[in-house]
Amino acid sequence: MNPSSPDALDKLIQAICGSAKYSQLAPSLVARVAAEELEKRGEYKAALKAARTRLHQVTGAFLAPEINYAKWSDILKSIPPENPEELQAFCRRMMRLHNSTAERLPYVDHFFQTCLADIAPINSILDLACGLNPLALPWMPLAPGCTYLACDVILPMLSFLNHFFRAASAQGEAFPCDLSSEIPRQEVQLAILLKTLPCLDQLDKSLSARLLSQIRAEHILVSYPSKSLGGREKGMRQTYSQQFARLMEGARFHVREFNFPTEMVFLLSR
Ligand SMILES: C[S@@+](CC[C@H](N)C(=O)[O-])C[C@H]1O[C@@H](n2cnc3c(N)ncnc32)[C@H](O)[C@@H]1O
Repeated sequence: MNPSSPDALDKLIQAICGSAKYSQLAPSLVARVAAEELEKRGEYKAALKAARTRLHQVTGAFLAPEINYAKWSDILKSIPPENPEELQAFCRRMMRLHNSTAERLPYVDHFFQTCLADIAPINSILDLACGLNPLALPWMPLAPGCTYLACDVILPMLSFLNHFFRAASAQGEAFPCDLSSEIPRQEVQLAILLKTLPCLDQLDKSLSARLLSQIRAEHILVSYPSKSLGGREKGMRQTYSQQFARLMEGARFHVREFNFPTEMVFLLSR
């Protein structure tokens, strides 16, 4: 089969989605990575391997394997309403399942309070490539009735987050969005882009700059990891500081900077 034929691409996409892990991802992301790898490798087997590796790097690498969302939803349902302590304990347990939120847990009590102090209380949020970060909602300085929109590419996680918003009586909605093919247009007070730009860079080097200029938000909370998943520094702080400085060249944001043990954070205001 000619690798550049539509049939070859369909066959590759089907093979990728044959694995439960990748069938749960937004289809446009799978199709994009499959097409790019087929073009680059020119050969089915190598393209399949490379596409799976890349999809794992941008999505699965952060999450505990095989999360039973139905089980977590059942636990959530068993929490009596109006019991904030039990809900917070649940959120803490579940945030351990995603590396980014797990790393933030030791300082989640003051993370959002510190970074958002100057613009709180927040009326509307758009959490982009959210992972399990919406579970940190009880620690955010929100105005009553705050709208919380959240998107990512992992479909069962998004369904679970919609259960969570209902259980937490939040005005929230989680929806699938592959940022490499679409930038959400909703207008909000605060967009959140935590530890996500390095990941999106692996899909499209021009995406970070486009996101920052096209997101319709008064403020954008951006962060970068300052340690690797294994906990080592590996010069990440310096690398990402330089990357962020390049991104800000010619951009007209007022920037405030915050530092946490595993994360460097910037609050950008228009
Ligand atoms: C490093 S994690 C950060 C998660 C979260 N923002 C946090 O800091 O807690 C990167 C997230 O980006 C998501 N992601 C990867 N590619 C994406 C894409 N093309 N569009 C939207 N989300 C994507 C992954 O599923 C993952 O949840």
